[in-house]
Amino acid sequence: MEKVVLLSDPNSKAWDFAKKIQNHFVENRKFFVPIQEISIKHFRNHELNLHVQENVRQKEVYFIHDSTKDPQQWWVELLLLKDLLLSASATSISYVLPDMLYSRQDRKDKPHVAISARTVARSISPNLKRIITMDLHAPQIQGFYPEEVPVDNLYSFPIVVKYLKENKIIPTELKELVVLSPDAGGVDRARAFAQKLGSNYPIAFIEKRRVTAGEVKEMRLVGEVKDKDVLIVDDIIDSGGTQCKAHDLLKEKGAKNIYAYGTHGLFTEGTEKICSKFNLIMTSNTHYQTGNSATVIDVSPIFAEAIWRAQKGLSISELFE
Ligand code: R5P
Repeated sequence: MEKVVLLSDPNSKAWDFAKKIQNHFVENRKFFVPIQEISIKHFRNHELNLHVQENVRQKEVYFIHDSTKDPQQWWVELLLLKDLLLSASATSISYVLPDMLYSRQDRKDKPHVAISARTVARSISPNLKRIITMDLHAPQIQGFYPEEVPVDNLYSFPIVVKYLKENKIIPTELKELVVLSPDAGGVDRARAFAQKLGSNYPIAFIEKRRVTAGEVKEMRLVGEVKDKDVLIVDDIIDSGGTQCKAHDLLKEKGAKNIYAYGTHGLFTEGTEKICSKFNLIMTSNTHYQTGNSATVIDVSPIFAEAIWRAQKGLSISELFE
């Protein structure tokens, strides 16, 4: 651990997240890990110019990235930073990507499309030590990375369930809860969430068809929600269209209270419309939300523990048992 440094852009939203990770080490591991600054500037034609002032020679660097940046810049920063750190003789480079962007296109769902999750993996993985991310859109994206670059896909559901229980958000006497995935690909996520809630809650899912990326066309419910409360669990809330359409369908099918959780809260259409529909909307702070109308749950302790355990050779899966 002595050689570990955290690296982040002080002008980005990731800086506070890096500070939270640092505080976690101090408070829970009685260990101080320095945070070094990376300066990111633009040439007049918008080319990026990266610079790290302090020495990183023989350091084990964990770069905490900002998932709210423009996705194209997010990607190029990862490429340039690796070159910078290798040239500066860092011993190892690990990327902490709270939200792995470009993950939604992870297969050829129609002809003539790019598998962008694979392209990201191929471009960023050479010479990396590891990647730490959370609630990947599809866990099999890990398979796009070569075996020498392990991808730790952390789960947010244990900390979210703890939050729900501690704050009595989902009343413990609630017997009639259904945990629902708004698409078929998220059924395992909903099941894991339901199991962690611990009351043998049934799961359901929605079969969803999109017209274009970003616009949902049709939804069909698979499961029973009449007179039940429903907790929708998804990986991303982008425009909120999926959640809102799911809400309307569930109401039509007789659901009572409807709660929603999406790990990565992009809220590209704002939070007002979506939040007014639901009994409660929750997200994590992988997009550094600070909590306006959505409830934001801090997942930085899981990232801190994952870094600690990766360095100490301890199990990361134990975090989720
Ligand atoms: C899609 O497959 C994802 O799991 C999310 O359901 C989706 O990205 C949410 O997008 P939006 O909020 O724009 O409907």
